[in-house]
Order: sequence, then structure tokens, then C-alpha cells
Amino acid sequence: MEFYTTISILSSDFSEVKKTLREAEEAGAAMIHWDVMDGCFVPNLTFGAKFIDDCRKHTGLIFDTHLMITSPQTKVAPFLNSSDIVTFHYEAIPAGAENLIKEIHLAGKKVGISINPSTDPVVLHPYLTKLDFVLLMAVEPGRGGQKLNENVYERLKILTEMRRQANALFSITVDGGVDGNNATALRQSGADGVVLGTSFVNAHDKKKLIETVSVI
Ligand code: DX5
Ligand code: ZN
Repeated sequence: MEFYTTISILSSDFSEVKKTLREAEEAGAAMIHWDVMDGCFVPNLTFGAKFIDDCRKHTGLIFDTHLMITSPQTKVAPFLNSSDIVTFHYEAIPAGAENLIKEIHLAGKKVGISINPSTDPVVLHPYLTKLDFVLLMAVEPGRGGQKLNENVYERLKILTEMRRQANALFSITVDGGVDGNNATALRQSGADGVVLGTSFVNAHDKKKLIETVSVI
């Protein structure tokens, strides 16, 4: 898979979501990144599965759903309709994620686990060969527009080495604070793709931003 960008709508005007979806498609993004927040796992509350379902008919882009919710194992079902990738947080289900991974795969979807900047990547060891994605947070989850935490570069190196040693095949997406200035360094440190949120919404030339991010 070539280096991919997945567009987070979190910092956009939700009442104009169709426009944002069109802009992402026209700019050459591969995916739409849906930041689902339940007000418990993170203080913010965004949207549920119906919002994503209603948007499904407006774009052919891959739907990459990021569940920042508590007890994802009990709430995942509605998100299996329209999502192509469902990512939950290790911190929300520190034990027994195997069943949730199986459930998402049985629904024919790809599965990811996300870890916060302060969570040691080593916790992912039991799951490495079962995952399609690891979503490496470069900000504390819950808000867009934050500054990238520089520890992500070291964490990328650790995670890519863990993947090599396990002969695992998952892709690594970096999420939070990514823009045209740090994307190349992230890619050179081992990222396979990045989430663009505020930098995309604010970009004057969105196509150019994605081209910049996608070219080493
Ligand atoms: C934060 C979300 C991120 C965020 C990315 O909790 O998971 O996807 O929206 O937005 P920027 O790119 O603005 O940091
Ligand atoms: Zn996200």
C-alpha cells in the first residue's frame, strides 16, 4: 500500500460534512477518519454510527473509524455497518481484546488498535499478527488542533521493529498534529500513513498538502 492520508473531519464544520467529504476526495485522500468520542473515554462527545452511515452514500472513500469510547466490545456493532476499518483503544480494553478483534474481522472489516502517547507499544505484543492497523496517537485523544508529541518518532521505530520481529503485516497510521512540515519525518521514521485533521481543514491548497505529505 502506498503512503496514505486519512482525513479527520473533527476540526471541520459538521453542518458542511458533504463539502468536506468532497474536498477530501478531490484532494486525493485515501480515507475519511471518523473520530467517535463518547464523552467518557475522552471528555469530548462527537457523533455516533448513524452520522457515519448517513455519510456513506456521499463518498466512495474508505471509512476509517477511530473509536475513542469506553467498553468498545459492547458498543462496536453499529459501527460495523459503514466502516471499512474499525480501530479501538488499547486503554479501553487492556485485557481480552482478542474477541473484539475477531468480531470486527467476522464482520468483514479491518481492525486497528490505537495507543496513547504515554502507552508503551509493548502492550500490543499479543495482538501484532492479528491486526491490520496500529493507530499511533501523537496527541492526547479528545481534541483536534494539538501539537504533535515528538516522542512519536521513537515510538514509530520501536513499533516497526516489533512488527519486523513478529513477522506482522499491520500498517502504522500516525494520528494527531500531523501537517506538511512533519509528515516526511514521520514517514522516514516508519509511518505508513497519517491522519490529517486541522492541517487539512485549514489548508488553502488541500491537493498540494496531500501531495506534499505523500511524496517522500
Ligand atoms: C484526536 C483525534 C485525531 C484528531 C486529528 O483525538 O483522534 O484524529 O482529530 O486532528 P489534528 O490533525 O487536528 O490533530
Ligand atoms: Zn483520530
